[in-house]
Amino acid sequence: MFIDTHSHIFDSAFDSDRSEVLDKCIESNVKKLIVVGFDKETNRLALELSKKYPYLYPTVGLHPTNLDDYSDNFFNYLEELIKLDEVVGIGECGLDYYWDDSKKDLQKEVFLKQIELSLKYNKPLIIHSRDAIGDTLEVLKSVGKPINGVMHGYSGSLEMAREFIKLGLKIGIGGVVTFKNAKNVKEVVKELDLSNFVLETDCPYLTPTPYRGKRNAPYYIPLIANEIASIKKIDVKEVEETTTKNANELFGGRLL
Ligand code: NI
Repeated sequence: MFIDTHSHIFDSAFDSDRSEVLDKCIESNVKKLIVVGFDKETNRLALELSKKYPYLYPTVGLHPTNLDDYSDNFFNYLEELIKLDEVVGIGECGLDYYWDDSKKDLQKEVFLKQIELSLKYNKPLIIHSRDAIGDTLEVLKSVGKPINGVMHGYSGSLEMAREFIKLGLKIGIGGVVTFKNAKNVKEVVKELDLSNFVLETDCPYLTPTPYRGKRNAPYYIPLIANEIASIKKIDVKEVEETTTKNANELFGGRLL
């Protein structure tokens, strides 16, 4: 069984055929999906969908490009959601200087608050980092404690990946690993032990080869696993078993 540790299955791209897509996931051996919220509305949708389908597990958070939702009230409400048994993680959260680098301090403050909630409630962080990898590491290190979580959609250097692993984090490998020009990700996969990786789609975005450009969906997870197996010259069964074990560890046995 595979686990997609990062999906946005609530996205309107799935409105016309969501149940068919979810059926196809089960048929494709992708039997558990983490549904990742990133603002007020998507946190609500992640929770709502997870009530409907038992193999969907919600996370709630505030993404650095959605800071319009930010307020003390929002954070009180977010903390109430995080306390719920069914919520398995916090995020996506993190830093993004690609879309907006005008509010770096506010991004760091909001990220740090979510790190603190992760430590307080012992739930893993789903970390987004774009054009901000140095600052992401710095904020995480500033806490001075081991951190449970995943560097989602990782595309940084091997050297930085080692730093995140040292803090206690997993590395999320998605469709990008199948792209011909994805040198960094391929090197990270080749050099680091399989015990550090979890699989993810980030659907509906970042569709793996050969479906690049089309809508991404969790049933493409085996394509990502195949690519990892071929880079590491191991059997895909090993990738399946180890990454599923890693995902279960990451979510602290909450994926029941
Ligand atoms: Ni995402």
